[in-house]
Amino acid sequence: MSAPAPQRLRHYGRRLGRKLRPGRAALLETLLPQIQIPLAAGKPLDPWALFERRPARLWLEIGFGAGEHTAWQAERHADVGLLASEIFVNGVASLLRHIAERKLANIRIHPEDARPLLAALPDACLERVFLLHPDPWPKARHAERRFVSPANLDALVRVMADGAELRIASDHPIYKLWTLEQMAKRGDFEWLARRSRDWLIRPEDWPETRYEHKAKGEGRTSLYLRYRRVPRN
Ligand SMILES: C[S@@+](CC[C@H](N)C(=O)[O-])C[C@H]1O[C@@H](n2cnc3c(N)ncnc32)[C@H](O)[C@@H]1O
Repeated sequence: MSAPAPQRLRHYGRRLGRKLRPGRAALLETLLPQIQIPLAAGKPLDPWALFERRPARLWLEIGFGAGEHTAWQAERHADVGLLASEIFVNGVASLLRHIAERKLANIRIHPEDARPLLAALPDACLERVFLLHPDPWPKARHAERRFVSPANLDALVRVMADGAELRIASDHPIYKLWTLEQMAKRGDFEWLARRSRDWLIRPEDWPETRYEHKAKGEGRTSLYLRYRRVPRN
């Protein structure tokens, strides 16, 4: 059973940035409707049926930004169906360009808030989830806007398969600490780190994202967290 769709969701990020180049605007009109995840309020979704060929595994990326990480993963894992969610229209257009240029058949896009998508997914369907450099909302009074929250982690736990992996990255000191604290409180996620290099060095199958690159240029190092969804009893 899927969880009910959340009511009256507010989101705080930017939806629109600079005016889109004509080619990217055209992709929003032509390609997006072909690969957009059809969500109907409160209705469960069959995520495997979204793909022409039923994928062996399903992964999800939340807040994919310009989509370079999503495209990299999709290109190297043809048997995976990648669900990708992003609010920022310019980012969606950028991922569409990657998909068109590299002819990627295994990405489906939710160009909206990830939370209704999580609510519509069936239990235990995802083998991997990426949440890379989520907006940090560093002021304490904005803490409830942070994606890493008890409610969103509960939603993730429901849709993640036993043993599935959750990858979180952050370059923001407050968000790093926040995430470690939130995750440490939970019995349903196990941190996979054994030594400091596990969180200080980005694994090879985890390409740099645009935000990570920007942070590096500004002198901030990133934290790479990998958690395993603890198997259900
Ligand atoms: C700081 S950016 C990081 C983008 C990308 N992951 C990277 O590392 O370059 C965070 C992104 O998450 C998106 N975002 C924020 N809340 C979201 C939500 N509830 N659902 C989907 N995307 C969201 C924002 O629009 C923004 O593009």
